Amino acid sequence: MTERRKLIVVSNRGPVTYSRDDSGERVAKRGGGGLVTALRSLVTQHDVTWIASAMSEEDAAVAGEAGGEAVEETADDGSPYRLKLVVHDPVAYDRYYNVVANPVLWFVQHYLWGLATAPEFDHGVHAAWAEGYVSVNRAFAEAVVEELERSPDASVFFHDYHLYVAPRLVRERVPDATMSHFVHIPWVMPDYWRALPEPIRRAVHEGILANDVVSLHTDRWCRSFLRSCEDVVGAEIEFEGGLVRHGGRETSVRARPISVDPEEFAEIAGSGEVRAAEHDIAAERPEFLILRVDRTDPSKNIVRGFRAYELYLEAHPEMYGRVGMLALLDPSRQDIPEYSEYLGAIQRGARTVNDRFQHPGWLPLDLRIADDFTQAVAAYKQFDVLLVNAIFDGMNLVAKEAPLVNTRDGVLILSENTGAHEELEPWVVSVNPFDVAGQAEALHVALTMAGDERRVRLEAIRRHIREHDISAWIETQLHDLDEVVGRSPTSISA
Ligand code: G6P
Repeated sequence: MTERRKLIVVSNRGPVTYSRDDSGERVAKRGGGGLVTALRSLVTQHDVTWIASAMSEEDAAVAGEAGGEAVEETADDGSPYRLKLVVHDPVAYDRYYNVVANPVLWFVQHYLWGLATAPEFDHGVHAAWAEGYVSVNRAFAEAVVEELERSPDASVFFHDYHLYVAPRLVRERVPDATMSHFVHIPWVMPDYWRALPEPIRRAVHEGILANDVVSLHTDRWCRSFLRSCEDVVGAEIEFEGGLVRHGGRETSVRARPISVDPEEFAEIAGSGEVRAAEHDIAAERPEFLILRVDRTDPSKNIVRGFRAYELYLEAHPEMYGRVGMLALLDPSRQDIPEYSEYLGAIQRGARTVNDRFQHPGWLPLDLRIADDFTQAVAAYKQFDVLLVNAIFDGMNLVAKEAPLVNTRDGVLILSENTGAHEELEPWVVSVNPFDVAGQAEALHVALTMAGDERRVRLEAIRRHIREHDISAWIETQLHDLDEVVGRSPTSISA
């Protein structure tokens, strides 16, 4: 056990969100998403103040009652932490989240534009950058500075693409702050960053380079990061040592693959709720169950996955009535047109498969659109093949969670463009996300793999995840910070 440390965690989505139940009582619900799940264990081990956006009206009410100060919260295991909810102007927040962070930054960082028709930066997007993204980042920076005044020896941990500008704003006010930033999504090559107007791509890079440490999941994303710092802002790079020099400062760049808490997962998998859901899935399941669990995000490549399954069925009539795909999809970011259109494409894709192959008593593709974590974990226990074919994905935690609790020696089909692939490659069936014929063949390979081979591979994946769990991830990052504390702080150039 390491010493308890003072940490200020900063992320757009917080660990809980408040609402009122039917009787009017205030209730706190666990926030969703991989980031929040992964960071939750930080709270149990360290003295954490968590700064996040107020997402609901009740969040704003909680913040208001506290006069803008942090409130005392308790994690599921009883650990105390402080939660500071930043209330944003609703129009600014909408522009930050629905115009810039997701349709621009998420899209650029997953190579989601074909460039012939998108992106297009009109005046609205430029205004959303200045009056949405930058303003919300300024509000976050303000909250961090207040916390640093209260607790000057705390280290700041920024998270993700929502907060690229904030670190520089904090650095200008607190030059010797210790700050690190974890990017949970891929980093793309410099030429693709050129899809963004110069002032915006520069602000992204200069903002994040105000940190002492920048971490990404894989060596591949780190290499892209170093190259784009060189190309976009002319930084001086030490590729071997992972060091960027820019504006009179140094930033260390590290590959730190995020992980999960295997014990927590085992507990959830054994809970009464999950068992009940598993019972339902087991009662209906086909002989061979192919599973996918995703948010309805264009980066997840759900439509091509359905197409690959269609090609597989076309080639394997002997499996009719015996195989089935269960797609458990969490509806995501539906206020953004690209996302609601993608959900439509998913529904049409599933319909195409079922219209073509369905017969009485056999539904080839069972599509369920719901935010249902319990059902997802139940399905993790039941799959024979798990399909993760993301276009690009920073890590993909489903690929780590599901094998841990699977009870059928299930096989993992994994896109070569996921961060998880860098770690799990020896034991998975690798696929190129655009090669639907290759994915159809991978489904066949996985479904016919010999029992012994499946067991050996699944055990190896589990061993790897247990040896590289979430606590190890956190410890390594604290160690990274210790290395930079003491490196002479220098001011940022104008
Ligand atoms: C990804 C991102 C997180 C985000 C999560 C859920 O995991 O890296 O930052 O919180 O998706 O997305 P949402 O937009 O609902 O917060």
